Amino acid sequence: MSFDDSLIDRIRNSADIFDLVSGHVQLKKAGQNYRGLCPFHSERTPSFNVNPSKQIFKCFGCGIGGDVFRFVMEIEGLNFPEAVRLLAERNAIPLPASGAREQQGAEDRKRLYALMTEAASFFRRNLKPNSPPHRYLTDRKIEPPVQAGFGLGYAPGNLTLLKHLKGLGYSDAELETCGLVKKSEAGEISDKFWRRVVFPIRSLSGQTIAFGGRILDDGFPKYLNSPETPLYHKGDHLYGLDAAREEIRKRDVALLVEGYFDCIVPHQFGFCNTVASLGTSLTDAQIRLLGRFTRKVVISFDSDAAGLSAALRSIDLFLQQGFHVNVLQLPEGSDPDSFLRTQGAEAFRELVQSSAPCMEFVLSHSMNRQRDPHSPAGKQQVVNEIIPYLLKMPNRIERAEYVSRVASRLRIHESLILLEMRKRARPGRQQLQLNSKPAEQSPTQAETYLLHAVFQDRTQESLLSSLEAELFDGLPCNEIFGKVFELRKRCKEISVFSLREQLSGESLELFDRLTLRALDKPVSKELIIHSIRALKDLQLERLSRQIQEEIVREEKNDSDTPRLLELLRRKERLRREKLLGAVEHAAGESEFYV
Ligand code: UTP
Ligand code: MN
Repeated sequence: MSFDDSLIDRIRNSADIFDLVSGHVQLKKAGQNYRGLCPFHSERTPSFNVNPSKQIFKCFGCGIGGDVFRFVMEIEGLNFPEAVRLLAERNAIPLPASGAREQQGAEDRKRLYALMTEAASFFRRNLKPNSPPHRYLTDRKIEPPVQAGFGLGYAPGNLTLLKHLKGLGYSDAELETCGLVKKSEAGEISDKFWRRVVFPIRSLSGQTIAFGGRILDDGFPKYLNSPETPLYHKGDHLYGLDAAREEIRKRDVALLVEGYFDCIVPHQFGFCNTVASLGTSLTDAQIRLLGRFTRKVVISFDSDAAGLSAALRSIDLFLQQGFHVNVLQLPEGSDPDSFLRTQGAEAFRELVQSSAPCMEFVLSHSMNRQRDPHSPAGKQQVVNEIIPYLLKMPNRIERAEYVSRVASRLRIHESLILLEMRKRARPGRQQLQLNSKPAEQSPTQAETYLLHAVFQDRTQESLLSSLEAELFDGLPCNEIFGKVFELRKRCKEISVFSLREQLSGESLELFDRLTLRALDKPVSKELIIHSIRALKDLQLERLSRQIQEEIVREEKNDSDTPRLLELLRRKERLRREKLLGAVEHAAGESEFYV
């Protein structure tokens, strides 16, 4: 269903951001804003701001921010239409009756959800005390409250579910749409799940949208899963997330496992931040989904070859989305389920706590694959293999830390790794070449850091007094910083809110993207100096190039003009300035003091 803008505005205006946030966060007045501890990441000093006059919120710790809808989406785990509907209901704003077709579509979906709920309770009822499936779960030490919590059930098969649901008025077509029946060659339909323990797969809000069924013996296939349906796209969900979401947010870390039992058993042992990918390869959508609750994950994969390559692939995807990833390694042949049952919660907790940062895992894995990882060829191979991961690490400081760890493990000089990194990073760097159009460039890391530093009370003033507008000439953030300088000139408050109001179009989009991007630490003095230096280098390069082009033009004209002499003098000045900057930087000195 789509809503028109004026309705959205009415709903937005009737909901008060202060009231809304107050329900979740203790807010204290701080100037024009209210401040509290961010509900979206764990922190000790409050960096979560609410601006009641603008009706927006913003966390300078994790970067999240937006209006009432965004807050509801994040805190309740809803999509936009759902958030609109919820706020409309809370504020007693009637939503218009939708068009006949839309209404029909919504009605149909409602029936499918109800049908799945019916199926789940049918399965649940069929898990009878002392029946074989019940004994199976007892043998696997799944306690009754956990069975109930995860809605485990039993599918007798045959036509039992089919008859039950048809008795409730559902049609063959609806059963087929939900993937609960199969068709024989003769075109006859019967239950899809036969004599299997079933696991309801639920959406974030707890609605049953699919099932997985495990056979009771070692028959084939071990697990049978619902097909894709209008309610279920398997790459969009994580098993157990509805049960784990609060705990994940509270602990600010998730445990990602592969199988149904590997998810349920940790929950039973108190690791309630566990979710499962269900043995398929992880998708970007699943990582984004998890990213609503945390940016830290501990992954546990089987220690066989398939599990290993799945782990490497997942690490890559997680790093790309700015996650911190640790890898939990279980003894060969065990999974979280069997490990917990045999070794207990304490041993498991120790393994989780001592899980290795993913770079260690990647490094060890790569070194183990070399016949001689300390031969020159072996070292080269290892460096080649791990550089893609290093380049994807979102945090520069951490990346630097790993460069030196890798260097010492391989017993090579750091500069060798840096050199290789620079070679590989070049395609990305070329994007920043200044003769391409600004709109096509992605902003440099340096610009991102400086923008964040502008909004840090501690660094704003000293930073702004040492920046010049020219530094951003031709860069993606040129317009944004232009507005920063303008506000400063007019002695206006410089905040995310005040700056945002000055921007529109592409710059606004870029601004939102950058300010909403989480930095995991405040921008330090060192990082600011580093960033300014990087932009200075770019600026000097840019000027040198311009001068060089002009010199070439003058020389072509074959004129030994005063203009040419002037250009050559300027070129020399720039060269000296560049050198000075480089030396200054190497010595850790700078014109910027905080
Ligand atoms: P595993 O084969 O590792 O099994 O599959 P498991 O989870 O340890 O199962 P148990 O302990 O023997 O019961 C991992 C996951 O891959 C999916 C399931 O989600 C399973 O939990 N899978 C596996 C399937 O979908 N189909 C299969 O036939 C096998
Ligand atoms: Mn298992």
